[in-house]
Amino acid sequence: MAKIFIPKEIAPRETRVASTPDTVKRYIKTGHSVFVEQGAGLGAHITDDMYIEAGATIVPSGKSGWSDADVVLKVRTLDENREGGFKEIDQLKEGAILIGLLAPYKSESMVSTLAQRKISALSMELVPRISRAQSMDALSSQANIAGYKAVLLAANRLEKYFPQLMTAAGTVRPAKVVIIGAGVAGLQAVATAKRLGALVEVSDIRPEVKEQVQSLGARYIEPPSDENGAGEGGYAREVTKEYLAAQQKALAEHIALADVVITTALVPGRPAPKIVSEEMVKSMKAGSVIVDLAVEEGGNCELSEMDQEVTKYGVHIIGTSNLPATVSKDAANLYARNVFELAQLFLKEGGTTLPLDDEVIKGALITHSGEVYFKPFISQTKEEKTS
Ligand code: NAI
Repeated sequence: MAKIFIPKEIAPRETRVASTPDTVKRYIKTGHSVFVEQGAGLGAHITDDMYIEAGATIVPSGKSGWSDADVVLKVRTLDENREGGFKEIDQLKEGAILIGLLAPYKSESMVSTLAQRKISALSMELVPRISRAQSMDALSSQANIAGYKAVLLAANRLEKYFPQLMTAAGTVRPAKVVIIGAGVAGLQAVATAKRLGALVEVSDIRPEVKEQVQSLGARYIEPPSDENGAGEGGYAREVTKEYLAAQQKALAEHIALADVVITTALVPGRPAPKIVSEEMVKSMKAGSVIVDLAVEEGGNCELSEMDQEVTKYGVHIIGTSNLPATVSKDAANLYARNVFELAQLFLKEGGTTLPLDDEVIKGALITHSGEVYFKPFISQTKEEKTS
């Protein structure tokens, strides 16, 4: 039976935690023991007593929680500078299983150290988007929250109504909202902006989203050419400079007329496409709002700044990162359940041996038994061995 450790997340403004009292109970019910770092849940309003009541043991901050664990459940990637001056990666015991949103694309050295230390690391971002794994899909559970919250931030900042109103003092025109990128976050932003009564237009380079956008009552802005922007696994591919220029031209008049622009366009493993140029910002009305959800990947707007709200040419540009952490209760509950469902693939059999032939484990695994499994960082020969 496994010893599961839930550390406190120490990244700035991170409020989420990888297990809640509900999932602690579930782990214990399946025969495992759970150790929670003191104060780990406070950002999501979960006290140590609530964890104790669920059956967990609280451990003081420090190295021991890490080094004793068979399984460590995190939200964010490994932190380098814990209080007490240690790196999380150095404390993990050989053979331990680590789960989290590990952002492997961003750190080849972390991936190779995980391999050297013989850690089995599963990255939540890489869980395949197949029906069986829907309950483990943390990208979706968190992107949904980000899309919702982006609209609320915009509505709060905009000095104008979202809905159309007929009043005795005259008619108020509805706000015009342009949403760029109609993945999970974008579609939730569409639904939320529609609920608030805005007129919504959507741009995406994957033509298959057209119907989804229209079924939510929004208008689809046709891509600039017949070239299909769909890549592998349902994601977009990185488009050429020429395509992007044509897309910007097609979008320019929509953006100039918009009160709010929410950008969510991403391409896995690549910098976010720069879609909203400085010229486009200049063309917008004073007091308009841009919320750039892609800011952590470099941003979709040329002028957005990470974790800042800046006003350029009279336009408010909000670059707040990690919006799910601002809805900590639901974000933690949903994320904890995603992690639990993934962990069940190896915990339910009682042990901590990964079923390497399972498609979901195979997709999420980045290192195991001293080897790198994360495709972008493995050599051709190794790739042939693992495929
Ligand atoms: P994402 O976060 O990687 O990208 C967001 C959106 O940006 C995507 O719709 C993408 O097409 C769009 N985009 C990229 N470059 C663009 C550009 N230059 N201009 C405009 N838009 C651009 O995507 P997310 O939200 O992770 O969804 C990816 C796919 O996975 C979607 O097809 C979604 O329907 C699918 N999915 C499937 C699930 C399942 O079957 N279990 C669950 C969740 C999502």
